[in-house]
Amino acid sequence: MKKKKIIVAITGASGSVYAKLLLNNLLQLADQIEAVGVVMSDNAKEVWRFELGNSDYEQYPFTFYSKMDFNAPFASGSAKFDTMIIIPCSMGTLGRIAHGISNDLISRAADVILKERRKLIAVVRDTPFSLIHINNMKTVTEAGGIICPASPSYYSIPTTIEEAAQTVVSRVIDLAGLEQDSYRWNENQ
Ligand SMILES: Cc1cc2nc3c(=O)[nH]c(=O)nc-3n(C[C@H](O)[C@H](O)[C@H](O)COP(=O)(O)O)c2cc1C
Repeated sequence: MKKKKIIVAITGASGSVYAKLLLNNLLQLADQIEAVGVVMSDNAKEVWRFELGNSDYEQYPFTFYSKMDFNAPFASGSAKFDTMIIIPCSMGTLGRIAHGISNDLISRAADVILKERRKLIAVVRDTPFSLIHINNMKTVTEAGGIICPASPSYYSIPTTIEEAAQTVVSRVIDLAGLEQDSYRWNENQ
């Protein structure tokens, strides 16, 4: 399998635990990955500190880019990053992507991924959704993106918040085309 070049964008929606688990999972899957570039919005750092009580995102051995760094390789299609995961994805970021407003590295990188017909996975988080949110999800889907809501499943009987959140992250790992052992409904009976 060709090793993947992955962009992880973390935005200011609730659910920093999803980002944390994804980064942990990517560490474990290092043999399938050529590069991971991470970009966080200002509010993503704020929400991470608030919800997880730390700034541990600084500890990961991935390449971090500032949100206005248009010199990042994946600001251009020539860099050939194949997959972008936005986790969690705020409604603000979703709206900017749906309308092609590439005014920061996150929305520009998503714009690039879509124009190059590569894989964009947006783990959207809000509830309830307005018609504006739903229309933006439709637009991104029509442009080739995958909307993967931050909606945990419970049929694996998770007993902690992290186990519930991992059910979403496992779907994201599958969608990204990475191989990982995870709970699969009605397998191993
Ligand atoms: C604690 C906290 C939780 C938030 N949760 C959400 C959320 O679940 N969904 C959402 O769309 N915005 C949420 N927001 C608001 C976004 O952070 C805000 O709209 C921000 O401008 C999004 O910008 P960004 O996409 O650049 O991070 C939250 C903000 C805070 C402080």
